[in-house]
Amino acid sequence: MSLRIALTKGRLEKECVKLFERIGYDCEVLKDKGRRLILPVGEMEAVLAKPSDVITYVTHGVCDVGVVGKDTITETGGRFYEVADLGFGKCRFAVAAKAGSNVYNGSGRKIIATKYPNVARAFFDGKGMDIEIVKIEGSVELAPLLGLTDAIVDLVETGATLRENGLVVVEDIFEVSARLIVNTASMKLKQKEIDKFIEAVTTNLL
Ligand code: PRP
Repeated sequence: MSLRIALTKGRLEKECVKLFERIGYDCEVLKDKGRRLILPVGEMEAVLAKPSDVITYVTHGVCDVGVVGKDTITETGGRFYEVADLGFGKCRFAVAAKAGSNVYNGSGRKIIATKYPNVARAFFDGKGMDIEIVKIEGSVELAPLLGLTDAIVDLVETGATLRENGLVVVEDIFEVSARLIVNTASMKLKQKEIDKFIEAVTTNLL
């Protein structure tokens, strides 16, 4: 029985190609895929999907394994085993705001823009802060710059996006990286193949 793996399109997909090549899988089709969404990788079938869809496909068992960021895992949840930290796709969640503003000042309700409402809500609940969340779909940095929100909760990798837009990190929340996840039924039904795959992955991490 061969495995079907869901890969997060984009940056994580490129890191997966490097990992798979270290393992020795033939990735030529994946590297030159055009618009195809289902591709052979070694003995596996790879599916390219958006992060939250990787979780959906693995949770429902139409993909046995998946590679997705801890950011999406924390935000979306789902039923699967998280079996390895792949060590790439590293960044962190942080609260950021316009330089000179202080989001922790005063007791009034603060407005927070984010693509990750559950992560943001949990963080500010932990502080006992009264906040309202505005869900933004991309370039969250715009929201405080336009005066819509007091701050943002977003991923910071190099810090360049914040810097070039006059925003600063107010507080780090937690570190994020790519994880290998496994469907709970596949873990039993395809135990041999999954164990072999996890072993190949974990012994080829940088
Ligand atoms: C992410 C994140 C920040 C940026 C951080 O956005 O939301 O905007 O990267 O990276 P940096 O610290 O290296 O500047 P992404 O590029 O994924 O685009 P998006 O905002 O459209 O989701």
